[in-house]
Order: sequence, then C-alpha cells, then structure tokens
Amino acid sequence: MLVVVKSDYDDMSRTAAQIVSELVRKKPDCVIGFATGSTPLGTYKELIRLHREEGLDFSKVTTFNLDEYVGLPPSHPQSYHYFMWENLFKHINVDKRFVHIPQGMANDVELFCEWYEEKIEKAGGIDLQILGIGANGHIAFNEPGSSLGSRTRIKTLDELTKRDNARFFEKDEEVPKYAITMGVGTIMDAKELLLLASGSQKADAIKQTVEGPITALYPATIVQMHRKATIVCDEDAASLLTRKYSGYLS
Ligand code: F6R
Repeated sequence: MLVVVKSDYDDMSRTAAQIVSELVRKKPDCVIGFATGSTPLGTYKELIRLHREEGLDFSKVTTFNLDEYVGLPPSHPQSYHYFMWENLFKHINVDKRFVHIPQGMANDVELFCEWYEEKIEKAGGIDLQILGIGANGHIAFNEPGSSLGSRTRIKTLDELTKRDNARFFEKDEEVPKYAITMGVGTIMDAKELLLLASGSQKADAIKQTVEGPITALYPATIVQMHRKATIVCDEDAASLLTRKYSGYLS
C-alpha cells in the first residue's frame, strides 16, 4: 500500500485525477469504479478540466458506482445517480450505455445485486476503484461489522452514517435507512484501489486503515491486503500517521 500525503485538498484532488487520467490514456476502454460523497468532488472537477482542456476521452470508459440509497429514484437530488450526473458524467463524454449505478428502486434487490456483480465480471473487472472513507471506517456502505468477503448486497446504514447524512434531508424520516453497496470482496477484486481522504475528521480513520489491525469492525483496514492500493490524502487526514511518505506524482 502506498500512502501519498499532499499539502491540501486541491493538491490531493489533482494527484488523484492524475492517477485516473493516466489510466484512461493508457487504456481508453478501462473500467473505473466511482465513489460519491464530498471527498472526490475536487478530483471530478479536475477530470472535467482535463476533458475540456486536454481532450481526456472517456467515450470508451465503462463505469460502476459503489453504492446507492434504497428507495431514492435517480431524479432525487440526494440520490447517487443524480450526484454522479451532476458532478461528473454530464460534463464529460462518457457513454451512458457504459454507466452503471446501483438501482435504488430495484423491485428485486437481491436479483439486481447478482446482476451487478455479473456485469462487473463481464466488463472484465474493475481496473481502478476510487474510494472515500467514512469516519467509522466504512468503504462504500460496508459499515463496521461487514463481512470482509462480502459481495454487492443491501446493507442497513450505521447510526453514525445516518446522522452524517441527515443534513442533506429536510426531515429525519426521509434519511435513507438502507443502501445497495458493492461488498468488501467486490472492492478488493478491483485491480487497483485509490482511496481518498481529506480533513482532520478522517485522521483517525486513516490511522486505523494504514496502521491498525485488519478487522471487520473497520472494513477499510482490509485495503492493507490489496496488491495495488494507493491512499492519497492531505496533511490533516494524515496527521495521526506515525510513518509518512510524500512527493509521489508531485
Ligand atoms: C460514497 C461512499 C462512502 C463515502 C464516505 C465518505 O459512494 O461509498 O463510503 O466515500 O462516506 O464520504 P465523504 O467523502 O462525503 O466524507
């Protein structure tokens, strides 16, 4: 696992976008796993800039998103569908036939999850999976206690996650209780992982992930076992690490 510590959020975002763009240039028909949340927003802005100003071509790229809330239609402003189209996809030349985001309104969630796993496999697997991290150590919506071998499935959201999300909804009853999420095993099957973290509120999560014991109570710690994982974070998120590297791709 390579830990890259950048000075601030913008620097972290540029570095992450550089890793993604290098892959897209090297393998135009690559498969990228995308995350939502506030952390990758700067990375997505930089990818949009690279597309507009430097012609970065996404037309052959296949995408798979990590997760989606159960019960929210794609048109809901808090759905991850909406997030991805607003913050990235509509600004680049991605082909919508190649975009995959879990269906929060699926009639048969179990069947949908099986289909999603098959789709990933048929696409040849994920070349690069972008990840954020929850303050509780979750990756995607694999909350503490998630099986480290889990596949795409429905998960009950943790109390802390629901509290974190409450700010985006008018009433507490509207805050989703469940999500469809790629499993920890699904994520670990990606050929490369790129985990992003910014801010002191993620410092403990990054310390556990890099230096802590591997445990299902902190699903992100499994990233230690991945053969090609890069964590790109800023100084604040790295502040509790006892060993640091810097200067990579600077
Ligand atoms: C989002 C996702 C989540 C977030 C995590 C961090 O698709 O899978 O695991 O990456 O909750 O969210 P932010 O970046 O908002 O702190």
